[in-house]
Amino acid sequence: MSESLEVEDLVTGYGKQEIVHGVSLAARPGRITCIFGPNGSGKSTVIKAIAGALPVWSGEIRLADRTLSGRRVHEIVREGVVLMPQGGGVFPRLSVEENLRMGGYSIADRHWVDSRVEALIGEFENLGRRRHVAAGSLSGGEQMMVAIARALVPEPRFVLLDEPSAGLSPAMVHDTIERVRTLRDRGVGVLMVEQNIREALPVADHIYVLAGGRRQFGGSPEQIRDDAQLMSLYMGG
Ligand SMILES: Nc1ncnc2c1ncn2[C@@H]1O[C@H](COP(=O)(O)OP(=O)(O)OP(=O)(O)O)[C@@H](O)[C@H]1O
Ligand SMILES: [Mg+2]
Repeated sequence: MSESLEVEDLVTGYGKQEIVHGVSLAARPGRITCIFGPNGSGKSTVIKAIAGALPVWSGEIRLADRTLSGRRVHEIVREGVVLMPQGGGVFPRLSVEENLRMGGYSIADRHWVDSRVEALIGEFENLGRRRHVAAGSLSGGEQMMVAIARALVPEPRFVLLDEPSAGLSPAMVHDTIERVRTLRDRGVGVLMVEQNIREALPVADHIYVLAGGRRQFGGSPEQIRDDAQLMSLYMGG
């Protein structure tokens, strides 16, 4: 049986406006799957729908033999799929530690959550020193680290990262991509929206390109590099 996260013919949007017109894609455990595409092409809309943050109008989302579409965010978290939203979405008035605890809100076993929070604070060294500081007073890059760590609290099988390196310095972009690679090496499936194609392409195992709410490409990094038209249209040459 496949342990993949599969999206089949996803249709969704906002209010009455259809934004995503039947997108199919798959992400695998221990692999980095990237979604590229121009602004407004529906990248965030797709991953919000996978996470249950937006209703699925039609189509199906599955993890292995379990159906995720039609279920609520906290149920999908329990199935092992966690979203880090675009911009991170940290709670600025809460401390770093409190933000991480929020990552375990759907988990009843508070001792387990506490031990996960401690483990992640140990792993993200910069956060340890700032654990009692309001997250809103951290730099953009540090806040992104809080957001990533928070998404990892439930020990997800798949993590959906919406532009984890946006707005970061080149050094921080590199660190973030390295962290994503570490997750992959531990067997986590990563489905990542990225604008830093130059940094993301070398670590991607599989790529999708969206434009106008439709899938324009699905394949390996090698295949997309060979497609001069796609590269110049959507990938900045
Ligand atoms: N909350 C919302 N309500 C109404 N329309 C929205 C909402 N969020 C996004 N849209 C619209 O849906 C379309 C796709 O948006 P989406 O955020 O998925 O794009 P994106 O590919 O993630 O873009 P970006 O690269 O700028 O993050 C856009 O036309 C946008 O205006
Ligand atoms: Mg987006």
